[in-house]
Amino acid sequence: MILKNKNYILLTILFSCFLVSIHHATLDSSEVISKTAMVASQDEYATDTGISILKEGGNAIDAAVAVAYTMAVTHPRAGNIGGGGFMMIYHKQSDQVYALDFREKAPKKAYRDLFLNEDGSVDNEKARFSIFSAGVPGTVAGLEAAHQRFGSISRERLLNDAIYYAENGFIVDSDQKKVLTKKVEFLTKDNQFKKHFYNKKKNSFSPKNKIVQKNLAKTLKSIQQQGKKGFYEGKVAENFVSFFEENKGLITLDDLKSYEPVWRKPIQGKYKDQYNIVSMPPPSSGGIAIIELLNIIEALELENTKHNSVDYIHNIVEAMKYTYADRATHLGDQDFVSIPIEMLTSKEYAKSIANQISTKNITAIKAIKPDLFEDSESLETTHFSIIDKDGNIVSCTYTLNFAFGNGMIAGKTGVILNNEMDDFSAKPGSPNGFGLLGNEKNEIAPEKRMLSSMSPTIVFQNEKPFLITGSPGGSTIITSVLQIILNVIDYDMTIGQASSAARFHHQWFPDIIFMEKEHNPKNIEILKNKGFKIENRRLGITQSILVKDNSLFGKSDPRNISSSTKGY
Ligand code: DON
Repeated sequence: MILKNKNYILLTILFSCFLVSIHHATLDSSEVISKTAMVASQDEYATDTGISILKEGGNAIDAAVAVAYTMAVTHPRAGNIGGGGFMMIYHKQSDQVYALDFREKAPKKAYRDLFLNEDGSVDNEKARFSIFSAGVPGTVAGLEAAHQRFGSISRERLLNDAIYYAENGFIVDSDQKKVLTKKVEFLTKDNQFKKHFYNKKKNSFSPKNKIVQKNLAKTLKSIQQQGKKGFYEGKVAENFVSFFEENKGLITLDDLKSYEPVWRKPIQGKYKDQYNIVSMPPPSSGGIAIIELLNIIEALELENTKHNSVDYIHNIVEAMKYTYADRATHLGDQDFVSIPIEMLTSKEYAKSIANQISTKNITAIKAIKPDLFEDSESLETTHFSIIDKDGNIVSCTYTLNFAFGNGMIAGKTGVILNNEMDDFSAKPGSPNGFGLLGNEKNEIAPEKRMLSSMSPTIVFQNEKPFLITGSPGGSTIITSVLQIILNVIDYDMTIGQASSAARFHHQWFPDIIFMEKEHNPKNIEILKNKGFKIENRRLGITQSILVKDNSLFGKSDPRNISSSTKGY
């Protein structure tokens, strides 16, 4: 009997090993299930803040504001008050979706050729890592506008946690430690970063290290007391601008004082009759691109195509190429240039593209539009999704652009500066830090907003909230969000499965399919043999909530260990 048992155990172990060897690695697909309310963010401190606000009776918008301020302290590589972003709000009472644009703007003194050398070439260092890389920040104005319009509890309460963590410190987890260690040379060039983020001796940290940001705490207190004015005017603004004057940068007091966020009309599209996709309009390219992609995919009729199979990837990659070529050609800040939104999001246009797509051949990228490309830089942005007990929703993505923006802290303000100016097209045909091309529609102009890929999205099923999602990842945000939507709607996956399924990305330029290592190696081989260039890459860090059967199903992307979804 004992022997039999032993054999049984041995067989089970052998069989499990066999299963592991034929099934490539998969990501964790467990999910958080709650009844009442939920927060999914990239940082546990922030998620806890959000949950406390909701439990105290605050609504999703209150929680979003508090989460964003907290992350400006505890997730400093992307959380910010020195950057910008977009917030989609579903307001239950009015049954309306609102799109809030708090994207950075070019300073008034900026001009088209700001990043060009005398010989006409692009100075990427200047565009990405200099004082000129920073756009006029929009985050504080955006958060204050959201709170003023929809908030229900005091601003004072919403900033308390952020101020506490800035004054008393937060503990660096292994993920933060990894990023800070990787960036040590870059960040210690800046005195404030060196002083606040690293140990004096070795520019390193022990796991127990706390990061304390006293200057940032003072700035946050000023916002707590005076709202928008506490950042864009008075002492904080003067200190902020002094830093630009000392470093011969362009941002002035007038730039700060005149910054205003904009409430915009969301981009909407139908997918397969039942679903209404609502996402961010320009200056984000996200909403238009996601609708264009879904329309093409609908016209391709992939219903019977296996998820992540060779045919599936081939078809969708072709759709991605056309969509990103349109992004480069047509998109920019809608306050400055005209954008054919109706055409790009129409079913007819999508059909005309779908008609050109076949798995028998690979569309040459030059056949779509003319070219140029160069390698991309390191990435960071962050997204959070929130739903409250009454059904109000926030889907928000905000950023400094690269991790820690341009690597500078604006003197005494403690504010980390963005390097968003690199999202403009410095010159037609010259790619930005994400390898994205653009033309005069996205060229630099005073007070213009740079084109973005950030795509905070809310999906409705038969008019009822269904899915809240978004992601960091620069140019790959659009395709990560797309795949969450497709996985849930077309493949009936749980939000856990949808978030952990392997992703792929093509952005027209470069002519490469970026694929995650969890894809079936056989499929990768077949795609290579067909003539696709393939590179391995991690794609996206989604934060999603699915509303189904009167329950909330939440999933923070398993690709990032700091992420945290909680509900009650
Ligand atoms: O707005 C954009 O599209 C970029 N600035 C976002 C940067 C980003 O997502 C970096 N992240 N991983």
